Amino acid sequence: MQLTILSIESSCDETAVSVIKALKDDQGNITKINILAHEVESQNESHAPFGGVVPEVAARDHLAKIYDITNTALTKAKIKNSELNAIAVTMGPGLIGALMVGVLFARGLALSLQIPLISVNHVDAHLAPALLLKKFIPKNDLNIWHETQKISFPALALTVSGGHCHLSLLKSIQEKTILGKSLDDACGEAFDKVAKLLGLNYPGGPFIEVLAKEAELNGNTNEFSFPSKPSNKENRYHFSYSGIKTAVMEVIRKETGIKKGKITGKDLSIEKKQSIAYAFQQAALKQLFDRVENALKDNPEIQTILIAGGVAQNLKFREIFSSINKQVIFAPPSLCSDNATMIGLQALLNSNQNGFNDHPYAKYF
Ligand code: KG4
Ligand code: ZN
Repeated sequence: MQLTILSIESSCDETAVSVIKALKDDQGNITKINILAHEVESQNESHAPFGGVVPEVAARDHLAKIYDITNTALTKAKIKNSELNAIAVTMGPGLIGALMVGVLFARGLALSLQIPLISVNHVDAHLAPALLLKKFIPKNDLNIWHETQKISFPALALTVSGGHCHLSLLKSIQEKTILGKSLDDACGEAFDKVAKLLGLNYPGGPFIEVLAKEAELNGNTNEFSFPSKPSNKENRYHFSYSGIKTAVMEVIRKETGIKKGKITGKDLSIEKKQSIAYAFQQAALKQLFDRVENALKDNPEIQTILIAGGVAQNLKFREIFSSINKQVIFAPPSLCSDNATMIGLQALLNSNQNGFNDHPYAKYF
């Protein structure tokens, strides 16, 4: 069976639309995927002056762009609207105003085409590219049939983004149990907040990574060390990053002598910024590694580790996790940050052998 889906993502600060074709076998397994269009427009520039996403700005920006981006995706996919079998859209979690733009637009489209509207959970969707695609480089890999991944289960899945940290156990693609979540700030959020304290741009993760790398190259790695929230008996899998962020703030206050008020990083030398970024990144990644180690100790039957989410673009993260003596699968870097391809793939993963008929998350018009 061949299915064609248009997917929309607007939960935070990316307006994204993709068109995907997929082949399914008689058991309902996806065997091949062809991404016909993958349009992602980031709002980073609109939010950068504020050091974080401003919900009202995000919603208005989505509204201004969603129609044109959808048109571009359909033109690049070179398909007629009548060839679409379903529309998938991020239903949550996310910023309510931003979500409403995508959901209402998708609903209107599905209604006008009289095809199903499929709701997708954004955090689940982050994992879909790791479950399905071996690689995807948008400039080379559009309009090509990709064989899907062969995953050995049970698998452990770690999704690390700006809004969420989830550690889950997957007995199969459909059977997922969440083991741990963020108790306060998510890992990516901590990267962004620490970046702001260091006077770096938003989103801060990539800037922290660059500074940390420079510290390593300069042999500047021992000056600071931040606590990596240890796990305990009751809490072996959950994540907490607010403590590290506060520790970084305290160090900057001590280094700059600024006892009260806002910290902007402007009084720190570049060497200090590099050392702090390095120590923070180490502590942040150590906590992720520690929770994964706990899960592997407790569930020795795990065959595969799947890693996804915006923070999974970090090369140090990839290096540390590659050392685990299991099959470790990272989502393709181009599909780690928010995008609509992951939304379409998740809608496809949730479909059964009847395609988009009897889909558990569909609304039919
Ligand atoms: O998955 P994502 O695009 O959006 C959410 O669903 O939250 O993740 C964005 C997060 C931001 O916090 C950003 O700073 C972080 O991913 N990030 C990184 C890197 N690239 C993006 N964090 C660390 N190192 C990176 N290279
Ligand atoms: Zn996300």
